[in-house]
Amino acid sequence: MKSKVLQILKEEEGYISGEEISRALGVSRTAVWKVISSLKKEGYVIESSTNKGYYLKETPDLLTKEEVSYNLKTKYLGKDIYHYYQIDSTNKEAKKMAVNGAKEGTIIISEEQTLGKGRLGRGWISPPRLGIWMSIILRPLVSPLDASKITILGGLSVCKAIEKVTGLDVKIKWPNDIVINKKKVCGILTEMSAEMEKIDYIILGIGVNVNNENFPEDLKDKASSLKIEGNKKYNRKEIVQEIIMQFEKYYEIFIRDKNLNKFLEEYKDYCLTLNKDVKINSNKESFVGKAIDISEEGELIVQKEDGEIITVFSGEVSVRGLYGYI
Ligand code: BTN
Repeated sequence: MKSKVLQILKEEEGYISGEEISRALGVSRTAVWKVISSLKKEGYVIESSTNKGYYLKETPDLLTKEEVSYNLKTKYLGKDIYHYYQIDSTNKEAKKMAVNGAKEGTIIISEEQTLGKGRLGRGWISPPRLGIWMSIILRPLVSPLDASKITILGGLSVCKAIEKVTGLDVKIKWPNDIVINKKKVCGILTEMSAEMEKIDYIILGIGVNVNNENFPEDLKDKASSLKIEGNKKYNRKEIVQEIIMQFEKYYEIFIRDKNLNKFLEEYKDYCLTLNKDVKINSNKESFVGKAIDISEEGELIVQKEDGEIITVFSGEVSVRGLYGYI
């Protein structure tokens, strides 16, 4: 009902009477009035005039279900959206929902996270209304061994979305940090629950620093935001919608083909790790070498200084010239 009233208000250039809205939706004028009041509480500026009706003057900068799903052209991604003003971590919430049976494509978005999770046990700074903090629940019918490919898809989709909306020169640091001018503007945390043969669910957690203006001293050399790099404030809603649409497009192809072949070249074009000196820190070992390729599985192929070729699945990869590694 709220979405429908909003849609009518958005599509009307000027005033529209309560009578007309109530007729269009088959509900009473009091019901319409109640929805208008709750929209105003959320920050919508709606002018009311006794003769002319209602006029939507301003939409708040929020990533609510109504805003994100308005004109969202997807088949199933984002059909269920849960929006919070504050939460500990959208990934944590998404896991709870997935365990309780949430559908594939369900999205959890929060304006702020108080305990945002990063990769390798780190935290993720998620201040209110400045970024995109969201998690997507997926239930792909592929082997758990293929799950890391979804990480690659996530990186590529977010990269394309940011490029399309901002026009900035966006790159990917393998596997899926999004980097602009050598600084990280987005991180992705993929978490999975699976049995031997079957994935129960995957949570794709995406954090984009959109309108942040500063970062703590220890992150200043490594982290940035779209606003800092592009010198302007960006519309978060437009970026979220584009991420969701790009991801669905890539994900559908992946589910059909069960491989990355269709987009591997595109991914490589954006990947700044390739042909660079890298330092790998995994649980097993630490070594330096040169990143020479990305395999069909989405792994990083590194040639060590002694010529040996190593396939890197995960772990921490530092790229020379990036995030303060010299
Ligand atoms: C990284 O360390 O690069 C990954 C950061 C992922 C952050 C996002 S924000 C939304 C989602 N919820 C979390 O708690 N983390 C991810």
